[in-house]
Amino acid sequence: PARAVEKMARQAPPTLAALNALIAATDPLVPGATRAVLGEGPEGATIAFVGEQPGDQEDLAGRCFIGPAGQVLDRAMQEAGIDRARSYLTNAVKHFKFVQQGKRRIHQSPTTGEVKHYRWWLKQELDFVKPKLVVALGGSAALALTGEVVPVMRYRGRARFEGGQPGYIMPHPSYLLRLPDEAAKARAYEDFVADLRAIRAMAE
Ligand code: URA
Repeated sequence: PARAVEKMARQAPPTLAALNALIAATDPLVPGATRAVLGEGPEGATIAFVGEQPGDQEDLAGRCFIGPAGQVLDRAMQEAGIDRARSYLTNAVKHFKFVQQGKRRIHQSPTTGEVKHYRWWLKQELDFVKPKLVVALGGSAALALTGEVVPVMRYRGRARFEGGQPGYIMPHPSYLLRLPDEAAKARAYEDFVADLRAIRAMAE
């Protein structure tokens, strides 16, 4: 019976809303998350951005890219002339994974196995959105979209994802937050905006 349930769950849902209902009803692979954080944006968006997994704030609010990394992404998108409301944003992994340190919940990167576990959902999701261009923000997204471990800085730029999907690989915005000094941060931010400008041009 467990296998029958699994098989039913793996039948492609007829709509993005039905897929999202299925994702929302599924338990996290690693227990702890408050909820599944779903993708956001219109079907038919030209550009789809794929992040890693929701962070602490996203987990609490139930919306992707609203915490510190999301704010960096927002600002850079604005600078590059990409309208967030007309883009699709989602994550490779739909649940926040963390270790508790006192009152703080410290983000833990998903393992390769965890990213692969969530890949089927991401593929279904992108099949509904049908973007012209898919952007992998960081290594977990690149793994989800290619099926392979990808060194992001080496392969930064244009890419082909599974199924021949035109794509682009770039660092995750949280990488900018982790850089040690302000000068390095400013340089990395300029490169990040340059990626987004190239993406905008490719998607036109
Ligand atoms: N980082 C991500 O990859 N996704 C989010 O939604 C927030 C932070």
